[in-house]
Amino acid sequence: MKTLKQNKKSESNVFLKELSTCSLETNTHLLKLLPSHDREKLFEAINYVIFSGGKRFRAFLTLQSAKLFDIPKERALQTASAIELIHAYSLVHDDLPSMDDDNMRRGKPTVHVKWDEATAILVGDCLQAFAYEILCRDITHPDTAIRIKLVKNLTVAAGFNGMVLGQIKDLEAEKALNKLGLEEILELQKLKTGALFKWSVESSCILAEANSTALCTYAEAIGLAFQIRDDLLDLEGSINDTGKRVGKDHKAGKATLVSLLGIDEAKKRTQQLCEEACDALNSFGGKANLLKAAARFTIERGF
Ligand code: IPE
Ligand code: IPE
Ligand code: MG
Ligand code: MG
Ligand code: MG
Repeated sequence: MKTLKQNKKSESNVFLKELSTCSLETNTHLLKLLPSHDREKLFEAINYVIFSGGKRFRAFLTLQSAKLFDIPKERALQTASAIELIHAYSLVHDDLPSMDDDNMRRGKPTVHVKWDEATAILVGDCLQAFAYEILCRDITHPDTAIRIKLVKNLTVAAGFNGMVLGQIKDLEAEKALNKLGLEEILELQKLKTGALFKWSVESSCILAEANSTALCTYAEAIGLAFQIRDDLLDLEGSINDTGKRVGKDHKAGKATLVSLLGIDEAKKRTQQLCEEACDALNSFGGKANLLKAAARFTIERGF
């Protein structure tokens, strides 16, 4: 009989294999979608950003939640590609000197370092516009009302009531005289990271015209856990594993749960959030096992 440790190891191997499959499928789909003006600087930089690695974790969430509703693969790949484009744009801008000022991303120089700031701003703008354009294509869903709902919900998740609002709160908190409290940090992280996680699964519910409550509860919990883990990796991780500079956000005085509660308490929080996320999926039975494994990966990952 297998021990608990062996079970956990084999669950994690199955998850990592599936994550890598989702990543390959998403990259292949993105390659098909991209126009081929490869001699232009802008397109060279866009290709650099899109195909320079990244876990494709949000694409994984989209593709796995789509499986719960038997959504045709091509439709799910459209939404998985859109969320990865928005995520990639958010990272290019997040790394700019006027934001987190990072020189390394996914193990490579950031766009403003390899090219210049103007290119990084425009690459981000372009990736964002492209995400919405691909969602509007007929292959995403034949019903225009469903395509509009996908676009509308993504604008809310990415915009001034979502990721961008979270990002500005994050930057303001760095300079604030009064440190943020627990509720304020939770709100900030729910916006800057959780909002895109939520759309990653909500998009499948929109495509399936299904109720999204359980999946959104799951995504909000792992979104938060994912950011706490990211902040822990900034302290405990390595540049080789994460592909980005470590220790920087902590030094900059970012408002994080780790800085407020300390490493041990933050880790306890991630455990609770993982349990909350898994419980939310119980009504799907065994079909949601990979999403549950994704929740455990979120809090244990080293990259
Ligand atoms: C980094 O996200 C930004 C956060 C929200 C913490 P990921 O850790 O998913 O980055 P990639 O896509 O794998 O590079
Ligand atoms: C970024 O959070 C969240 C985004 C919306 C891009 P971080 O600033 O902590 O992400 P990393 O550590 O640079 O990937
Ligand atoms: Mg940031
Ligand atoms: Mg950053
Ligand atoms: Mg970080």
